[in-house]
Amino acid sequence: THITFVEACGTSTALDVPEGWSLMQAATAHGVDGILGECGGSCACATCHCYVDDLLMAALPPASGNERDMLENVAAERRPNSRLACQIKAGPALQGGTVTLPERQE
Ligand code: FES
Repeated sequence: THITFVEACGTSTALDVPEGWSLMQAATAHGVDGILGECGGSCACATCHCYVDDLLMAALPPASGNERDMLENVAAERRPNSRLACQIKAGPALQGGTVTLPERQE
């Protein structure tokens, strides 16, 4: 799944994320700086905060209660399109999506 990650400084990285991988896994595996993923993807640290674009907003299922709770704890501004990248699994519906990363994760 082709996903573009845009860091707060403007650096953009386009990755082909294998189906079933989370966007956090793909970003950390490729050294995208704007995502930390300290808890390893178990929705417990909120350091994989990202802002999703309209395509992803429409394609993604709503955030789970657990994800919404963790979004209360993000370090940067929370916005209507805030999500946790470890809870976003790559698949065909997300093809071409872009996530923008906040200035800080902790
Ligand atoms: Fe910890 Fe996503 S990696 S909440």
